[in-house]
Amino acid sequence: MLKGKKIVLGVTGSIAAYKSAHLVRLLVKQDAQVRVVMTAAAEGFISPLTLSTLSGTRVQSELVREEVWNNHVRLGRWADLLLIAPASANTLSKMAAGVCDNLLTAVFLSSSCPVVFAPAMDEDMWLHSAVQSNVRLLGSRGNYILPVGEGELASGLVGEGRMAEPEEILEWLEHYFSAAGRPLEGRTALVTAGPTHEPLDPVRFLGNRSSGRMGISVAEALVSAGATVRLVLGPTHLGTRAPGIAVTRVETAKEMRDACMENAANTDILVMAAAVADYRPGSVSPEKIRKSSGPLRLELEKTPDILAEMGREKRPGQILVGFSLETDHETDNALRKLREKNLDLIVLNSLKEAGAGFGGTTNKVTIFGKEGSETRYPLKSKSAVAADIVKAIIDLYHVREAS
Ligand code: CTP
Repeated sequence: MLKGKKIVLGVTGSIAAYKSAHLVRLLVKQDAQVRVVMTAAAEGFISPLTLSTLSGTRVQSELVREEVWNNHVRLGRWADLLLIAPASANTLSKMAAGVCDNLLTAVFLSSSCPVVFAPAMDEDMWLHSAVQSNVRLLGSRGNYILPVGEGELASGLVGEGRMAEPEEILEWLEHYFSAAGRPLEGRTALVTAGPTHEPLDPVRFLGNRSSGRMGISVAEALVSAGATVRLVLGPTHLGTRAPGIAVTRVETAKEMRDACMENAANTDILVMAAAVADYRPGSVSPEKIRKSSGPLRLELEKTPDILAEMGREKRPGQILVGFSLETDHETDNALRKLREKNLDLIVLNSLKEAGAGFGGTTNKVTIFGKEGSETRYPLKSKSAVAADIVKAIIDLYHVREAS
């Protein structure tokens, strides 16, 4: 899959630079053409001679060498992909800011190809808000950020921040370059996730225990399949660092509905994974509600049913996916919602199943299709469930194309 692909590998100053040698070997074995650009700091961790020998071309590191200007524009344009592995905190911050003070930062600024970062640093650095905001910024500009691993770090501590293993990076690249890896290229998707908070007074709200993890995972799986995604996310501490996802944060069902309606008409795939409150307080007290001796009665009114509205306004060709969280008569209820709300697919989670539903990192679902299909899946991580949901969407496109 990587045969003939032109890859510029940027190596920066991190102890994980020793893994770059193995990475170059793996890429060359796949017949990729590899050019290595190192920063000065990287040369303290691994010798350019090692990487020159393995890549078969001289490692480049200086903007000017022996009075000759090194043409970073040509290198940036030559590449099919720029891979920065390891990406140190320092290089991430320079690239987020557009600093151009070495050959690698210059190549980055002049490249027009996809850029993939494999960050590597100690956990405290990785979790620092400055690094996280640089990563988010780079991601929001369409660069790919590979997840960091957990384990032993150079500091001797154990935690997050290890560079993805060379084999994992290779697998990512193979998937990226395969047509099968991006079947939703050119499609747009809108995903809702998380709870909603319906205010009662300035300090209280009605909410639910949704973490948003399921919907966020679906958004990430859609992006991995090539779609451009807008995620409308309710109030949750979780977020996403995946590039290619534009996030709109909302609090209430009404705000979620408005954000969805603004974008729905021009979107191919709509996945409504949010746990939207069905009711909100009929009036919001402008002052904090004081306790009194008697009981407090709340009058609730219905919130907009976003999924039902999407179903009513669905345009031909659009794919609408809903979720159904049930405690009883699961299949009947899911099928009724599928029909009544004009859905193409419905994902049923039963709260009776251990490990399924809100809060956790796993889920167990059954997906029903409008045409009568029913697929039951075993207990999986939410990201694996998200991949199954996206696969069901892709299968639906295949069926439509075939008919
Ligand atoms: N949903 C929505 N807007 C609402 C309520 C729910 O878009 N106001 C969506 C959810 O995102 C989910 C689906 O509807 O995709 C099902 O939500 P659920 O609460 O299970 O079903 P309801 O249709 O609200 O029915 P019921 O409460 O009777 O089970």
